[in-house]
Amino acid sequence: MTYSALSVLSALSVLSAYLSPMSLPEIDLVVYPDECDAFGHLNQASFLSLFERARWEMLLRGPGMDVFTRAGAWPALRKTVIDYRAAAFPGDVLRFQQALTHHGHTSFTMRQTARRVRDDTLIASAEFLFVCIDREGRPIPVPPEFGEYMNARRGVAGQTRRLTVHGVNLAVEVHGEGPAVLFVHGYPLDRTIWHEQIDALDGYRRIAPDLRGMGQSDAPDLGYGMELYAADLAALLDALGVEEAVLCGLSMGGYIAFEFVRQWRSRVRGLVLMDTRAEADSPEVRRARDAAAATAREQGTAAVSDAMLPKMLAPSTLAERPEVVERVRATMAATPVSGLVGALGAMRDRVGSEPLLSTLAGIPTLVVVGAADILTPPDRARAMVEAIPGARLAIIPGAGHLPPVEQPAATTESLREFLRSIG
Ligand code: MLT
Repeated sequence: MTYSALSVLSALSVLSAYLSPMSLPEIDLVVYPDECDAFGHLNQASFLSLFERARWEMLLRGPGMDVFTRAGAWPALRKTVIDYRAAAFPGDVLRFQQALTHHGHTSFTMRQTARRVRDDTLIASAEFLFVCIDREGRPIPVPPEFGEYMNARRGVAGQTRRLTVHGVNLAVEVHGEGPAVLFVHGYPLDRTIWHEQIDALDGYRRIAPDLRGMGQSDAPDLGYGMELYAADLAALLDALGVEEAVLCGLSMGGYIAFEFVRQWRSRVRGLVLMDTRAEADSPEVRRARDAAAATAREQGTAAVSDAMLPKMLAPSTLAERPEVVERVRATMAATPVSGLVGALGAMRDRVGSEPLLSTLAGIPTLVVVGAADILTPPDRARAMVEAIPGARLAIIPGAGHLPPVEQPAATTESLREFLRSIG
């Protein structure tokens, strides 16, 4: 392709922005030859310029490029973390997506990803922390117009809310009316793993938050623990006016559900323990958590989550369903480093829940496990069912550690049957 052809393509692509309802515009930018190094790859400095360009383009389509100057504020970049995943070359059209992952009083964090349009390859993901300053360099509040624009355009139209609990802003999807079901995702994932169940389970009030540090919720640097995750959930239910709910926790979501039962037992109408375990970490697993945290700090989230991916899914999912593999990979890789490291520490330090199991007699409990789960295998689920008086077991064929995503229909059916049985 000639340079002039590239220029035309660039002009066209800069004009094209894909705006799905209530989502932030996706910005397409073309890689130019003069942005590449001697080996032909897009160089780092130019990549940073493209990320910045995409942010300006987004403002242009939203509150205006002068939204900060109008407010007498300047977003000063304080920290950048970039995860380069694949090379980009002249003529590649990169699609930039942007999301606000933290919205504080004077600071905010944006996560951006760049994917090659041709083959949807993730080329890089980045986090940018900004502090708004005035002309003298003093921190001043983030312009409300900017915050409102960014917040209003996160998530599914009308169904994703932003609620602040314990000083942290959480994204939570709330659908339907009826008895409440609270879906708690695992690590390092987000609420989207429950989308099929949320869509299908009419007749219930389905509530699915992103835990602090994951998905579109704020990801503070410190302060993670099972007690706090559980307390966030209790505060969310309070904010939504929900007194009791069926708690459905997957893996780390199950660890949090155990903690929730310890503290707010009377609010638990029923319990679904999905691909989880009651035992605390062994010393060996604790050491592995610390090693994973160090890797994430040094090399970014993807270095940890990509290594974990093959263990998350059934062999058949890995071999035959690339779209599911990519969905899970992208969700995991998008977890902010601070949230990933926080969750690793929280899991490492959690207490064992074995003593709790025999006390669950009064709480209807369903244990669900993927038949091919190697992280929390069916034998472990069977042992949990034996230890919980009256508990039922559902083994989901063709699923590994993530039945809601790998076998959504079968998972939904087992949930529906359980929910019906408890009225
Ligand atoms: C999860 O899916 O939440 C994790 O596999 C839990 C863990 O690592 O113990």
